[in-house]
Amino acid sequence: MIIAQISDTHIALDIPDTDQRVRDFERTIADIDALDPAPDVIVHTGDIVHNGRRDEYAQAAAILAKARAPVYVLAGNKDDRTNLREAFSAGGYLAPDSDFIDYAIEDYPVRLIALDTLSSGSNKGDFCRERVRRLIDLIDAETTKPIAVFAHHPPFEVPVGPDPLNFETPEMMARLRRALQHSGRVVAVFSGHVHRAAAGHVGSIPATVMPCIATTLRKGEYPAQMKIRPVYHVHRFDPVWGFVTETRIVGTAPAIGDSVLSQREGAPKVCFAGISQAS
Ligand SMILES: [Fe+2]
Repeated sequence: MIIAQISDTHIALDIPDTDQRVRDFERTIADIDALDPAPDVIVHTGDIVHNGRRDEYAQAAAILAKARAPVYVLAGNKDDRTNLREAFSAGGYLAPDSDFIDYAIEDYPVRLIALDTLSSGSNKGDFCRERVRRLIDLIDAETTKPIAVFAHHPPFEVPVGPDPLNFETPEMMARLRRALQHSGRVVAVFSGHVHRAAAGHVGSIPATVMPCIATTLRKGEYPAQMKIRPVYHVHRFDPVWGFVTETRIVGTAPAIGDSVLSQREGAPKVCFAGISQAS
């Protein structure tokens, strides 16, 4: 099974960055569409838009509509649950009247469980007791298959960020960690939010964080030629080895607009090799 993960596209209209964010998102989807073999699914781990506006979601949904693989979305701290649900209701996997955007996808060899870690009071994550109960229920609904969990906020400390703790309290993170570990069937946790790549563990479960698709918001050091190239993750599942994560740099193959971008940046036309990493 192959999962393409994207995150933190932060689509925002009427700002100087508007066109760049749209372009980053579009080029990423075009790159995923060209993958061979194609991914089974695409998961967007939140902060789809920047201000939670309906017109921002319309833009994001139009871009995602070009994806060949089925797309599943999560809510990030910049998202608005109501407007997100409205924009992506056609997928049929978002419960229309739930307080939270959490769900399980059962169609694949690995179950996909999406978490809602939004806080009503801050940009950090929240994981209340109600959400613990809901996660346990989702996990226990099927007992034979491995599970990949997707959450916008990393449920482990990422020490390179301005604040290593991405949940409001250590207790919330401990609560989430216990829930993720209780069945022994969660084999990976995939997140976004911090706009930089990281790999760690949630208890004994391997966990990764992907950089943001919006290149102007990306953190970490990148060579000049890469500054205009979005980066995303491809997670390939093997029943013996579990997940192996590949970091994909958009634009490794010549694409429409590459020559224009290269000339404008004054950079040579360079093809970057993908960086592979076990995680
Ligand atoms: Fe975020």
